[in-house]
Amino acid sequence: DAGEHASYMLKEILEQPDSAERVLRGRLVERFGTAHLGGLNLDARETRAISRVKILGCGSAYYVGQMGASLIEELARIPADAEAASEFRYRNPIIEPDTLYVAVSQSGETVDTLLAVQEIRRKGGRVIGLVNVVGSAIARECDGGIYLHAGPEVAVASTKALTTMFLGFSLLALQLGRVRDLSIADGRRLIEGLQRIPDHIRQILGHDDEYATIAKQLAEAESLFFVGRVRGYPVAREGAQKFKEISYRHAEAYQTSELKHGPLALIEASVPTVAIVPDDELADRNVAALHEIAARGGPLVVVTHATVDLGDLTATRIDVPACERELDPILLTLPLQLLAYHAALHLGHDIDKPRNLAKSVTVE
Ligand code: BG6
Repeated sequence: DAGEHASYMLKEILEQPDSAERVLRGRLVERFGTAHLGGLNLDARETRAISRVKILGCGSAYYVGQMGASLIEELARIPADAEAASEFRYRNPIIEPDTLYVAVSQSGETVDTLLAVQEIRRKGGRVIGLVNVVGSAIARECDGGIYLHAGPEVAVASTKALTTMFLGFSLLALQLGRVRDLSIADGRRLIEGLQRIPDHIRQILGHDDEYATIAKQLAEAESLFFVGRVRGYPVAREGAQKFKEISYRHAEAYQTSELKHGPLALIEASVPTVAIVPDDELADRNVAALHEIAARGGPLVVVTHATVDLGDLTATRIDVPACERELDPILLTLPLQLLAYHAALHLGHDIDKPRNLAKSVTVE
């Protein structure tokens, strides 16, 4: 059972500093500013020959795949994108010999992801897995991979597995980057950033009371937006997914830049927006877009860094610790887990087993 905790979800949220440490353990090579991933089964020549990375997963694994694609593009400068594994197989995908396919799955049993892996391998493609459950079907089907060591995850809404997936992608991006153009200094900078992540997570989880208060307000709304741009957009998608899964409120993710092209029409006092605003090159533009929401009476919760100046914006702010920019997405995701959790708790829902959903979908 969940032991001293009210639910598995809360237990698993609180385990994240430890699972983050586990996925990194023994895999950081400070001396050469790189990662050591023994299970990839890719030598340096094969790694250099990769011209594209295609990431496949479902649900939260798909959204973290989008975060992973950005990491790979930024650090390794290899074109990368993520796609829902449930769609991939049905469009007769072009399997390229110099593409590295990456399947992401907590359970390793999600049938849509498994069938995508089998389709790629049938056509001669190379697939690696980012999988939590050792010896699972997806892990067995892949050419190699990274085990996530998150420990068993019971709650349907993925939390600690997702954190380890992000860190797994950071390791992969670091290793791919270092056989290409990422400098040893940048590699070491990333390693230092990764080593600080578990403490940053502890710090964020320490603000639980604050999240409970904000979540109660959000839970009253029938419909909410989660918005972000570039690195922040998959964070918004994951935040909306968590919120809708367990609160049963309509939560929709949007790119902040697209608000003015449609959804702004829905903004009013009863429709709150949770905005992801990291301190990056887009912060000013993000804040300007949020003024458009505030001007229409839309309540705002802004997940950001202490260094971002919100000016006179009327908003509730949640600051996460600053780290290496590339690693921001995972820390920005954590408050969204807690907002979803507290909203569902407030509404009295079954947090670990939301209606209509299964932890792992093993039928087509
Ligand atoms: C869904 C679950 O059905 O499967 C999600 O409800 C999960 O929470 C998704 O993210 C993928 O699962 P897995 O095991 O492949 O990571």
